[in-house]
Amino acid sequence: MPSPSDEFVRAMPKVELHLHIEGTLEPEVMLTLAARNGITLPWPDVASLRRAYAFADLQSFLDVYYCGAGALQTVDDFRDLAWAYCQRAAADNVRHAEIFFDPQTHTDRGIALEVVVEGLTAALDDAQAQLGLSSALIPCFLRHLSPEAALATYEDCRRFGDRFAGFGLDSSERDRPPRLFAEVFARARADGYRTVAHAGEEGPPAYILEALDVLHVDRIDHGVRCLEDPMLVERLAAQRIPLTVCPLSNVRLRVFDTIADHNLAELLRAGLVATVNSDDPAYFGGYMSANFLAVTRGLDLDASGLLTLGTNAVEASFAQPLRKAELQAQLEIHFAET
Ligand code: HPA
Ligand code: ZN
Repeated sequence: MPSPSDEFVRAMPKVELHLHIEGTLEPEVMLTLAARNGITLPWPDVASLRRAYAFADLQSFLDVYYCGAGALQTVDDFRDLAWAYCQRAAADNVRHAEIFFDPQTHTDRGIALEVVVEGLTAALDDAQAQLGLSSALIPCFLRHLSPEAALATYEDCRRFGDRFAGFGLDSSERDRPPRLFAEVFARARADGYRTVAHAGEEGPPAYILEALDVLHVDRIDHGVRCLEDPMLVERLAAQRIPLTVCPLSNVRLRVFDTIADHNLAELLRAGLVATVNSDDPAYFGGYMSANFLAVTRGLDLDASGLLTLGTNAVEASFAQPLRKAELQAQLEIHFAET
């Protein structure tokens, strides 16, 4: 089977399930917003900021990322940020995006949740109307902060009702086991929200098990370390628990040395519902098409591998059944045209 062309990969209809909107803040925009808002960042220019992007691990990235998010202040800042992402996503043929944001990153520096949600929502509504891009918002609790802080954040978020599709858990993974957040996840589930959690990115497979057995999440974000536990792999496959894998992120944060070393092809061979996503594309070297092109070339995927990845993402999404059927039909048309 011939290798899919770059154009074929770019034109493939895509569903993005692991994207932090704060991670789409491009360096030029960060510095422009900081100047406009009178915020002093530790980087005087784009060159010095880009030099700070040589990450050793997850924490070294998060330190830069949280600092950079300080440039975001107003409703318009959040609106412009999300609109820029939606335009890039649409250019990569993303048709549906489930978008994370971190309420505490903003509320802890005095930005009201309303400001964040109003700005993001305005852009996402425009994207639906003008780009045909459907979307969902998923606030995440910061795992380096306390479970009590997560509970307070949840209460703040609840006011927005079904504006949010679900809740997630992100930030530093080492020594922050998912079970710490059992109570807030139980509350969210009792209120009818879907849930997801970052686990098994840097943390051990035991954290993936905890996310399943204690938090009862619907999807695992990253999850690439599951292969260290064959029983866990069997269970993830049998229960069709999706993994939102982020290839370029994993290389930039040193989870894998190179794309050729990434275990995505093994995850697929094990029958897992693995998907491809961009995580924090402004920091990790590319949006959805760049991630798909990297794995297509680096792991020598053929069209059937790409179709499996696309189908997995539709299955794993929280979109309504009718929308999922539309997304699947668009995907199949693209692959039928080869
Ligand atoms: N892992 C954990 N937290 C994050 C990430 C990530 O890859 N990106 C943004 N917050
Ligand atoms: Zn992430």
